Amino acid sequence: MRFLVLTSLASLLTSVLGQSSSVDSYVASESPIAKAGLLANIGPSGAKSSGAKAGVVIASPSTTNPDYLYTWVRDSSLVFKTIIDQYTSGQDTSTRSLIDEFVSAEATLQQVTNPSGSVTTGGLGEPKFNIDETAFTGAWGRPQRDGPALRSTAIINYANWLIANDNSSWVTNNLWPIIKLDLDYVANNWNQSTYDLWEEVDSSSFFTTAVQHRALREGSTLATKIGQTSVVSGYNTQADNLLCFLESYWNPSGAYITANTGGGRSGKDANTVLASIHTFDPAAGCDATTFQPCSDKALSNLKVYVDSFRSIYGVNSDIASNAAVATGRYPEDVYYNGNPWYLATFAVAEQLYDSLIVWNAQGSLTVTSTSLPFFQQFLSSVTAGTYASSTSTFQTLITDIKTFADGFVAMNDKCTPSGGGLSEQYDKNTGSPISAADLTWSYASALTAFAARSGFASPGWGAQGLSVPATCSGSSGPTVAVTFNVQATTVLGENIYITGSVDALENWSPTSALLLSSANYPTWSITVNLPANTVIQYKYIRNNDGSITWESDPNNQITTPASGSFTVNDTWR
Ligand SMILES: *[C@@H]1O[C@H](CO)[C@@H](O)[C@H](O)[C@H]1NC(C)=O
Ligand SMILES: *[C@@H]1O[C@H](CO)[C@@H](O)[C@H](O)[C@H]1NC(C)=O
Ligand SMILES: *[C@@H]1O[C@H](CO)[C@@H](O)[C@H](O)[C@H]1NC(C)=O
Repeated sequence: MRFLVLTSLASLLTSVLGQSSSVDSYVASESPIAKAGLLANIGPSGAKSSGAKAGVVIASPSTTNPDYLYTWVRDSSLVFKTIIDQYTSGQDTSTRSLIDEFVSAEATLQQVTNPSGSVTTGGLGEPKFNIDETAFTGAWGRPQRDGPALRSTAIINYANWLIANDNSSWVTNNLWPIIKLDLDYVANNWNQSTYDLWEEVDSSSFFTTAVQHRALREGSTLATKIGQTSVVSGYNTQADNLLCFLESYWNPSGAYITANTGGGRSGKDANTVLASIHTFDPAAGCDATTFQPCSDKALSNLKVYVDSFRSIYGVNSDIASNAAVATGRYPEDVYYNGNPWYLATFAVAEQLYDSLIVWNAQGSLTVTSTSLPFFQQFLSSVTAGTYASSTSTFQTLITDIKTFADGFVAMNDKCTPSGGGLSEQYDKNTGSPISAADLTWSYASALTAFAARSGFASPGWGAQGLSVPATCSGSSGPTVAVTFNVQATTVLGENIYITGSVDALENWSPTSALLLSSANYPTWSITVNLPANTVIQYKYIRNNDGSITWESDPNNQITTPASGSFTVNDTWR
């Protein structure tokens, strides 16, 4: 008996130590391969980018079975978020011109009219384009409304760094117009159905809602920073609505997050794990409101998601029920017969590494009734409570969860061919690479998981201390960005304001009327989000030190378009 215990302890120790040192060596060898693989897929000079325009990210060089030689807004934005994080944290300062090229390429794509519409009529929801920056016109699952959110998040992170490095003017003049198009699209369209990130289900999708929420929060903070205050209250209102809606994906009886409101599946899906890592904000601790990686809901969800793959993949057979396995998109997946994906398995590891970053930083870990089954995998005797870092419970759990996380990386390692190339999937029985070779997103997912393993967290986005509105509202109808330009010569001390017939124009109030900018004097301008498809009346006001002059009658009148933006050119009357 004693001999047995000793043997199993020894073998456990060997496997723990052995595994972590072999994961160390995989991380060391795979990191440069993943980075080179990612850069090879970016035009114009990436080794495998096959003629893509500058700053365009190809999904994969594969042209048949499957043909992925296109650029997806989602994939490109996640890839460049990784590059921007490395740049702004000083890990790789060689990519500045590549980042600028990405921004320019995306600005071009925003303006390309495509089957989802033009820039002002819904075209920003188009998921993929040809790599020469022309529209892809074939049948597809469109729109996909996570793209504009992810793109603005990537560019906002660059913008914040530029502001901190004395380059606000570049942000205001060059980045903000691009960011604003995307954020206006999110604010106006979040409450409409979307194809999910796997391009199959047309409903509402947790990943999309989560990244839209993040984008509007950090977008509103950026807008305030650079004085673009007219958008702030609109973005904040829709961010609150999104946060309220986000909570509704939680399935309390199943103890997991339902990935899509449609689709007729279990809803257990890598969608939710990816959402958690891509909305990680270390300042938010283990807050469940935003499903932070170490929140009880996200950990419970992780267990349910991971367990759904234990019995369906041959590569997972003979693995203990509390050890790491290969995971895929969702258990019902039939694409290529349904297999593990590198990026899904790395995402599980990353959520756990993110959790370790927070627990170690706060010096404690809390087990709740919701997360109890997750923690009991490692310590069956654990009970709900908070465990300080000095306790053996904390230390046991931290050690075992690190081993668990490393196990997911080790599984991908086992299924990485010699040479280190990462395709999209690996065969569920043999572990051999399958589907698109050199998937750019697979490489990015390796890099972000490795970074989290080393303790790196990208900058937060304002998730700390958010509270959920008591009742959920929809977007209260779509809005459009209306720019008012009025030619008005003024005397020193005199300013031009606008007010009108809707809330957003302060309902004819001369005292809270909105101030126009005189940056292009004698043209005064302001951009306001107004209800779409609506007849709106307004007037300009001169205010000279409290002495108010209204424009002469009649009221000005416009009918806003159904979507997009609109510019009005007036002359003071
Ligand atoms: C600001 O950043 C842009 C984009 O990289 C660059 O072209 C420009 O030279 C920078 N300006 C200053 C003052 O650093
Ligand atoms: C719109 O928002 C409401 C309130 O949160 C929600 O009940 C509804 O499902 C949402 N619809 C879509 C398509 O987002
Ligand atoms: C106002 O002027 C802009 C730029 O000159 C133009 O694009 C826009 O169509 C004009 N708006 C109207 C309503 O004529």
